[in-house]
Amino acid sequence: MSVVLEVEHLTKEFQRDDVATVALRDFNLTIEQGTFVTILGRSGCGKSTMLNLLSGLSKPTSGRVLHRGEAHTGPTPDIGYLTQTDTLMPWRSVRRNVEMPMEIAGVEKSEREAKALDLVATVGLSDFADNYPRELSGGMRRRASLARMLANGAETILMDEPFGALDAQLRSELQVELLRLWSRTGHTIVFVTHDIEEALLLGDRVVVLGPLGTILLDQEVDIERPRDPDETKVRPRFVELHSTLAAALKKGAR
Ligand SMILES: Nc1ncnc2c1ncn2[C@@H]1O[C@H](COP(=O)(O)OP(=O)(O)O)[C@@H](O)[C@H]1O
Ligand SMILES: [Mg+2]
Repeated sequence: MSVVLEVEHLTKEFQRDDVATVALRDFNLTIEQGTFVTILGRSGCGKSTMLNLLSGLSKPTSGRVLHRGEAHTGPTPDIGYLTQTDTLMPWRSVRRNVEMPMEIAGVEKSEREAKALDLVATVGLSDFADNYPRELSGGMRRRASLARMLANGAETILMDEPFGALDAQLRSELQVELLRLWSRTGHTIVFVTHDIEEALLLGDRVVVLGPLGTILLDQEVDIERPRDPDETKVRPRFVELHSTLAAALKKGAR
């Protein structure tokens, strides 16, 4: 398997006045192509900081991020990034939001319109293609954001707690849809969450982070796919891995 992202001795400090806050210290990680990697950690442990660095949006204080062997010089269209908060344009309909990355890339009008409608259908929003973000529920906005990110044609996808604010039922539905999408497309996904069940249900591998992005555990998830949420959560191996991850998180908090 080929390596898509490689992180070497990554450190990130935030400087404000005379005070430096270290968010991430000497972090190392390798992401293989086509894998679904979940990053599990409590609030404040540096997850979003790490994704910002992986995406190329932010620059490390020291160390480096390699994307297909090349150091980042900035964000690249090959890496899609779904941030924690919605960034849909309120004055554009769902369809026009999804078209936006293609407009920026200079894709011709009829082609981008067709592709946008296709993506809107992929995320189950066909009936809402002409609605505006304010007319959508939180879950629908997340779907629209996902479609817009996919419009970039990125092969690698970074997701920062994308379903964190949704109710349990909706979250479960979107998890299943994401898995379906991933199995069909073969994307490489790095998915950040603070939820143990979500990390296990989705990932081929769960990387558990402690304070300052210390890797507490790097656990392969040897549970077969497809993984139906209700059925998977009661499997003995799932329950066992759940305890292992919970123990790792707890140890990290001490
Ligand atoms: N722009 C910033 N300026 C100063 N400190 C920051 C900034 N972004 C994050 N931090 C600090 O870095 C640490 C990690 O934050 P973050 O990566 O957002 O954690 P997580 O996503 O795991 O909740 C926290 O202590 C946070 O306060
Ligand atoms: Mg965060």
